[in-house]
Amino acid sequence: MSDQPDTEIERLSTGIPELDKLIAGGIPRGFLVAATGEPGTGKTVFCIHFIAQGVSEGDKCIYVTTEESRESVIKQAAQFGIDLTKAVSDGKLLIIDALMGGDDPWTLRSLDVEELVNKVIEAKKALGFGRARLVVDSLSAFWLDRPAMARRYSYFVKKVLSKWDFTIVATSQYAITTSDAFGFGIEHIADGIIRFRRFVRGGVLRRFVLVEKMRQTPHSLQMHEITVVDGKGLVVLGPARERVEDVKLPKQVTNRILRAKEEKEAEI
Ligand SMILES: Nc1ncnc2c1ncn2[C@@H]1O[C@H](COP(=O)(O)OP(=O)(O)OP(=O)(O)O)[C@@H](O)[C@H]1O
Ligand SMILES: [Mg+2]
Repeated sequence: MSDQPDTEIERLSTGIPELDKLIAGGIPRGFLVAATGEPGTGKTVFCIHFIAQGVSEGDKCIYVTTEESRESVIKQAAQFGIDLTKAVSDGKLLIIDALMGGDDPWTLRSLDVEELVNKVIEAKKALGFGRARLVVDSLSAFWLDRPAMARRYSYFVKKVLSKWDFTIVATSQYAITTSDAFGFGIEHIADGIIRFRRFVRGGVLRRFVLVEKMRQTPHSLQMHEITVVDGKGLVVLGPARERVEDVKLPKQVTNRILRAKEEKEAEI
């Protein structure tokens, strides 16, 4: 036996091999990773891959959806060849939705963090012992009307659920209309931040992913272009190439350089 601390980190595959490569193999077990970004950038698609991978590895999986209905998530997954209905009936996955009403035991009555945590623990008990994965899409929905509480709430979620062997992916919307506290609450608490972005270039929507933070990980600092493919899901196309907009100097600088050059030539 050695006195050395165990430095071997167990990493969970995200279900997207090219993305795993950007984070040294996967998300360290027990982490809470924030997937942030604008609407339609791929956060939910990423969450679906993360959960599907968990199901295939025999993890206890819980998917909390506040943005869409259970059926919508199942339909979206099916378009990528992922059968979540089977995962649920096999007892490998529980999908919890919010505000859908009815007397279903797996529906949250309110967007309250305490209710969320209690429901997730109840779900974990129902699924049984073992390594677990949790998706909360979105976690920011729980403090929509209380943005100042973002940090406290996300810390509470992380602290309580870490005792239950969860590795968590929580999405956070990047709302320009709300205060900075909205997004940043979760980002400082999170062990990792995977930022999804979008740009329109030449009239075409292009999506990108950037790992902004991943503790204990020599992660890539390079933005990568991604796309969503029917029948397959999220695909990493490759490193974002240097764009003209990124390398172009401001006009005044260019003019000054040109003028200096002309003066020099005139001297000669
Ligand atoms: N079957 C499919 N084939 C191709 N592209 C698809 C398919 N299904 C979804 N997409 C693409 O994925 C996008 C949705 O991505 P996603 O739901 O992950 O966004 P999001 O980041 O979660 O957004 P929001 O914050 O609004 O929830 C769609 O707008 C579409 O461009
Ligand atoms: Mg979404």
